[in-house]
Amino acid sequence: MIHQQKGNGVANGKIILLGEHSVVYGKPSIALPFQAVTTQTLVTTSQEKTEIHCDFYHGLIDDLPELLDSLREVVRVCLVTLNQESTPINITIDSQIPAERGMGSSAAVAVATTRAIFDFFKSPLTDELLLEIVGISEKIAHGNPSGLDALMTSGHRSVCFIKNQPPRDIELNLSAFLVVADTGITGQTKEAVSSLSKKLETCETGYFQDIIDKLGHLTYDGLSYLQHNQPEKLGQVMNQTHNLLKELDISSPELDILVNSALDHNALGAKLTGGGRGGCMIALAKNKDDAKNIAQELKHAGAKQTWLYEMSE
Ligand code: MEV
Repeated sequence: MIHQQKGNGVANGKIILLGEHSVVYGKPSIALPFQAVTTQTLVTTSQEKTEIHCDFYHGLIDDLPELLDSLREVVRVCLVTLNQESTPINITIDSQIPAERGMGSSAAVAVATTRAIFDFFKSPLTDELLLEIVGISEKIAHGNPSGLDALMTSGHRSVCFIKNQPPRDIELNLSAFLVVADTGITGQTKEAVSSLSKKLETCETGYFQDIIDKLGHLTYDGLSYLQHNQPEKLGQVMNQTHNLLKELDISSPELDILVNSALDHNALGAKLTGGGRGGCMIALAKNKDDAKNIAQELKHAGAKQTWLYEMSE
């Protein structure tokens, strides 16, 4: 197979508005692409062996630490699929998506790297194949992924997503702003997903399943408020969702501090976003001025970084 001098691949971050964790159990989720942060991968020819260069590691792919197993797997699967296992390549990953903060960094790395390897070998890559390859690597990163992160980091549309179903595009038409804030604490998606799965397996009263069901209903309510431009009601749904996620032990003290600070400063609603137990939270603000003020207050309350997101296209 002919290859070119360079292959490029890009992916973006994602924000889950509603439905994290319950999406793993077949409930709906609402997610937004987050293009303020991206991951770029560059693939070039290597003389002898395949090498990886990223923030966490520089060296041979064979010596990658266990922590980066999902990256090793995505490269392996791409090269096997392309029948190029014996072609050494140099892979350089540059990501502004903070790692393990619920913004889909592991999926974004897999998406950008798959795109770059296919681009390097001048091989067409369908969305189906991309999601299949990224899904394999996400199984290692998350244990039991719903597929939402792979979808969102590879696309630019806001969606309502149910596992194993085609996503439904949503037009964003809400007169409000979202503030996204990073606690700076590494989230623990894999642990949170597996501890919730154990809770559901071992609970005989159905208590945790009821919470998952409630999260599903709240997401449908939120979708309707989003589509009918009712930010106040959507904010209430976000608050209820955060409280249920807390009951599932998905939050953390740092997330709760930021959620409470946003609510103390005029947010219409606030919740954790993504895998939880650290990572990022989101707050809904009536307008841009409120959003800026909330962002500033979140920084005072300990947020390491904040972003504003306009909720209309
Ligand atoms: C992680 O970004 C979202 C979770 O719902 C896991 C998943 O959907 O695969 C926690």
